[in-house]
Amino acid sequence: MSDTILETRGLTKEFLGFLAVQNVNLSIRRGSIHGLIGPNGAGKTTCFNLLTKFLQPTRGTIIYDGRDITNTKPAEVARLGLVRSFQISAVFPHLSVLENVRLALQRARGASFDFWRSDSTLKQYDARARELLEDVGLTEYAALQAGQLPYGRKRALEIATTLALEPVMMLLDEPTAGMTSDDVDRIVTLIKRVSVGRTVLLVEHNLKVVEGLCDRITVLARGEVLAEGDYASVSRNPDVQAAYLGTDPASVGVPESALNV
Ligand SMILES: Nc1ncnc2c1ncn2[C@@H]1O[C@H](COP(=O)(O)OP(=O)(O)OP(=O)(O)O)[C@@H](O)[C@H]1O
Ligand SMILES: [Mg+2]
Repeated sequence: MSDTILETRGLTKEFLGFLAVQNVNLSIRRGSIHGLIGPNGAGKTTCFNLLTKFLQPTRGTIIYDGRDITNTKPAEVARLGLVRSFQISAVFPHLSVLENVRLALQRARGASFDFWRSDSTLKQYDARARELLEDVGLTEYAALQAGQLPYGRKRALEIATTLALEPVMMLLDEPTAGMTSDDVDRIVTLIKRVSVGRTVLLVEHNLKVVEGLCDRITVLARGEVLAEGDYASVSRNPDVQAAYLGTDPASVGVPESALNV
């Protein structure tokens, strides 16, 4: 088994002549927590969408676990264990917390609705769903409607539904966005816990979180890799400092809210 779980070569995505991601070479070590950081509009989410095949690259190749997935369909990529955390909107607010995880398990295993109705199957999903809730610290919320969860706990539920897919490598896009500091601490602990035996690629604006979690960091700016290394080295890098200080979302012509899709 190679040390590198994910590798991109010359990864490029063009939107109507605009290069959102250009010539990105990533190399992510198996078992690591790798940070992908950079100012608003740098191309981080686009990279995630390329890696999970929600977007097709304009150019370049993606090798996951020794296999070229450049032309692989998103569902197949997920089956191979490369899974992006779902957005909050993928949580069904009127279902209970437990039901949300059960549904994620059902979808992960591709069971039909008829099959789903059988009692023994239901019990089997229930048991696994409760385990996952335990893993993310949501046991006491199992019966609550997901829509009633406090914000930080919703992100934990999102992680549980991602874990339902048995990821080998998890992609987390801004897991602490909009959280209070208590919630941030809890999610950091949770990410540490769920990263055991897995690889995590983390997009995160909170640099304290990045410093605390990431073994290695790639800095993107304007679609290109600006720097790479551990936190100490990238945070000292003058190009990185300039990119962080010198960019505001307005300068790339896109409202901030539109970027977190
Ligand atoms: N579907 C699209 N069509 C056109 N342009 C797009 C599309 N998706 C993203 N872009 C552009 O690509 C650039 C990179 O966007 P992306 O969302 O990847 O940035 P990001 O690094 O995730 O930013 P943020 O930190 O704000 O989430 C932006 O300028 C954005 O406007
Ligand atoms: Mg983004």
